[in-house]
Amino acid sequence: MDKINQVLNSDAGASEMALIQAAYFVAALLFIFSLAGLSKQESAENGVWYGIIGMLIALVATIFDPSVTNITYIIIAMVIGGAIGVRFAVKVEMTQMPELVAMLHSFVGLAAVAVGYNSFLEHGEMSGMMLNIHLVEVFLGVFIGAVTFTGSVVAFGKLRGILSSSPLMLPHRHKMNLLAGLVSLVLMVYFVQQEGHINSLIIMTVIALIFGWHLVASIGGADMPVVVSMLNSYSGWAAASAGFMLGNDLLIVTGALVGSSGAILSYIMCRAMNRSFISVIAGGFGQEVSLNTDQDYGEYVETNAEDVADMLKNAKSVIITPGYGMAVAQAQNAVSEITKMLRDKGVNVRFGIHPVAGRLPGHMNVLLAEAKVPYDIVLEMDEINEDFDETDVVLVIGANDTVNPSAAEDPNSPIAGMPVLEVWNAKQVIAFKRSMNPGYAGVQNPLFFKSNTSMLFGDARDSVENIAKAI
Ligand code: TAP
Repeated sequence: MDKINQVLNSDAGASEMALIQAAYFVAALLFIFSLAGLSKQESAENGVWYGIIGMLIALVATIFDPSVTNITYIIIAMVIGGAIGVRFAVKVEMTQMPELVAMLHSFVGLAAVAVGYNSFLEHGEMSGMMLNIHLVEVFLGVFIGAVTFTGSVVAFGKLRGILSSSPLMLPHRHKMNLLAGLVSLVLMVYFVQQEGHINSLIIMTVIALIFGWHLVASIGGADMPVVVSMLNSYSGWAAASAGFMLGNDLLIVTGALVGSSGAILSYIMCRAMNRSFISVIAGGFGQEVSLNTDQDYGEYVETNAEDVADMLKNAKSVIITPGYGMAVAQAQNAVSEITKMLRDKGVNVRFGIHPVAGRLPGHMNVLLAEAKVPYDIVLEMDEINEDFDETDVVLVIGANDTVNPSAAEDPNSPIAGMPVLEVWNAKQVIAFKRSMNPGYAGVQNPLFFKSNTSMLFGDARDSVENIAKAI
């Protein structure tokens, strides 16, 4: 603080500060353009560039901020952090992206806790209302940061498969969550009244860490996409609160952008999956599910690549519904190739994309765009769901939960109520999979046992390449 005042009181310092504020303003605008660009496939690449340039401007401006001391430490930390970041980014598979994102959110949460404690211990000369506001900022910042930290660690564990994807059902879990919230509120009042009582800050931190862990542990695997985007939102608010504590406007703006866009995305996903937003973010509040693993679904029928190729050549209309398995098998280029072959033969080929197919929002769209599948034949679930009954063949390539009829038919299913691609209404369905194992939500799929469905077992890429050869 003293250093900032010293700098502001000198003419040179004031003009440098003005320059930095201008740079922050430009960076904030670029972040807004970036979000706007990312909302459409055609402009997504530009959106990424706006984000990169904005972040570069923000970093340079922060490093050259005249109030920043110990620039050497900052550069050393950036070089180490940057090197680790580049290594992860190069190594990570597309299918592991949500894990990486969850891990990065945990760092933002931890950073907010550290900034909170630091700015509590070193807040300089403050009193009266200013001090009270500062203490509330610190308390909320540490609370959100701690919840984000452990919540993200659990989300990482679930996505990685280290922790079980089924929801943890502790007795009275909602009451415990409510109690944790209320106790934290009382501690905040006490913390402010006592003009910064460190013990209440420490107790709240422990409660918030357990609360974040419990909140995400009680959410089932099928709702993980919403959780990841909700944690994205929390990490934004944690960054914004760090911005308030550090008096950094850009961090406040950026945090608010991430926080609100993450919350909007979570809301849209909840609507797409017919989930209650409040229920999901409150750790599955109001949802009681039961898993029936002993049910007899009957017999399934197997097919082979040659028969599927014949079926496709004789079809007038084909819909491909890709899922996580297409990403694992990296089958998108082969899928693009058979799409082209069939379209050249006059077959109407289209794609039906479920909003949570794969493991991250837009996962399938990115893979298909990468494989140069034309955008205009890639349709959202709502745009294509009514067309299945006029479709000759549906190729379900590595999708499972997103085409599971029990979501519509079994109220006790963990995915009950989630809208799904109604592929079973087509004349023929071919399911590409390696085994009869369930999908991400851990539930069996009655689609595979229907009389118009045939299973094509094997790695999706090999199967699609064999079909291409046979065509
Ligand atoms: P899933 O339900 O996860 O099913 C994927 C299927 O692909 C499995 O049945 C698997 O069966 C098959 N598979 C895996 N590797 C394969 C390979 N190499 N070749 C052929 N098949 C392969 O996928 P989905 O339908 O895309 O649904 C996504 C699920 O993930 C939803 O439950 C969703 O809630 C959840 N989720 C989504 C997101 C986002 S934002 N999209 C994030 C986290 C979680 P085999 O093992 O028998 O081959």
